[in-house]
Amino acid sequence: MSQKKYRVIQWATGTVGKAALKHFIENPFIELVGVYVTNPQKVGKDAGDLVGLPKTGVIATNDAEKLIALEADCVFFAALVQDLPLYCRFLRSGKNVVSPAGPFTPTERYRNQFEQIEAACRDGGTSYHGCGIHPGFSGDLLPLTLSRLMNRIERIEVTEVIDKLRNPMIYTEVMGFGRDPEALLAKPSRSPEAPYAFAGSMNMVVEGLGKQVEKLTTRLEVAAATRDIPYTLGEGIPGGGIIRKGTVAGQHFEWTAWVDGAPFLIYHFYWAMGEDIEPKWDNGDSCYRVVMHGDPPLEVRLMGGVAADGRRPFLGLPWTALVGATAVPAVCDARPGVLTHLDLGLMQPRGLVRP
Ligand SMILES: NC(=O)c1ccc[n+]([C@@H]2O[C@H](COP(=O)([O-])OP(=O)(O)OC[C@H]3O[C@@H](n4cnc5c(N)ncnc54)[C@H](OP(=O)(O)O)[C@@H]3O)[C@@H](O)[C@H]2O)c1
Repeated sequence: MSQKKYRVIQWATGTVGKAALKHFIENPFIELVGVYVTNPQKVGKDAGDLVGLPKTGVIATNDAEKLIALEADCVFFAALVQDLPLYCRFLRSGKNVVSPAGPFTPTERYRNQFEQIEAACRDGGTSYHGCGIHPGFSGDLLPLTLSRLMNRIERIEVTEVIDKLRNPMIYTEVMGFGRDPEALLAKPSRSPEAPYAFAGSMNMVVEGLGKQVEKLTTRLEVAAATRDIPYTLGEGIPGGGIIRKGTVAGQHFEWTAWVDGAPFLIYHFYWAMGEDIEPKWDNGDSCYRVVMHGDPPLEVRLMGGVAADGRRPFLGLPWTALVGATAVPAVCDARPGVLTHLDLGLMQPRGLVRP
């Protein structure tokens, strides 16, 4: 078995970037060769210091050109938003790209982006893979894999459940929590583009099962706080406040891909500020749940292990990092071009079993 090491540049060190960086430092099959940061307080720091590990000798920089000039096999791009021109520069400079910022799966809507990426891959002899927990795993790879345990599939429901009170995130206000319910329903906070980014995953599942998506419909339901709910934005992060009684404390997005005139693949996203909300959705701990309706019916819940408070934390962000980081060897070794799960098939991660 090959003992090849893969030279990786970590691009940005937010929540996902830091989880990936920790993996790259600890995985003996990976050699960390560069770290890009935007935060001036991180510039000049050793990569190990950024994630509470021993020094690595790799110093974080905001000098993008210096990193682009480096010899590396792969860039793990975990900045806030995708940057197509930058991806293309990496790819043309001979670096493969794995990105949780997407784009994820080629569809007609994103044809232009993927054509640019394909062209850069051809020029550089490199490959690109969009990764994540959802899109990227729970709503595509997982149901497709589970379909192998079915005799007949009637409908598939994929649900993301996040309790944002127990799993604080900096985006609480941007997401519309604390707003007037009618106002949020009239002007939802989630980008109108979001369903189309996830539609790539829906297509992958539906086409993977030999069918075509006929249309995509969306629905938003909100729940109101039944008491004033104090919240934070996360440990050590300034801000937070109170979700006032009667304002938005829960959101349920429902996106449906229709097949043969009926709802077939339904994505639910339940985001709630605890349990004091009305309507009270009975979803349990934060998780991804895949329900395959048919013969025989099947249900899988993907959850973090039990934490000290007896509940299961939401691990969507570390999982987003790991599902991409563990794909790095396969992406580097694959043929040039855009790679989805359908191209990569069953991956064989390296370096996970270690003392
Ligand atoms: N597919 C999925 O399932 C999935 C799930 C979650 C997240 N994501 C994606 O993963 C990416 C990272 O998410 P995250 O939760 O880690 O976000 P985050 O914690 O906000 O971190 C993003 C990092 O990007 C850098 N940054 C900040 N402003 C920037 C700017 N203007 N231009 C370029 N970089 C900037 C910063 O890096 P430094 O601190 O190093 O300066 C920041 O820490 C996002 O694109 C997100 O959409 C995908």
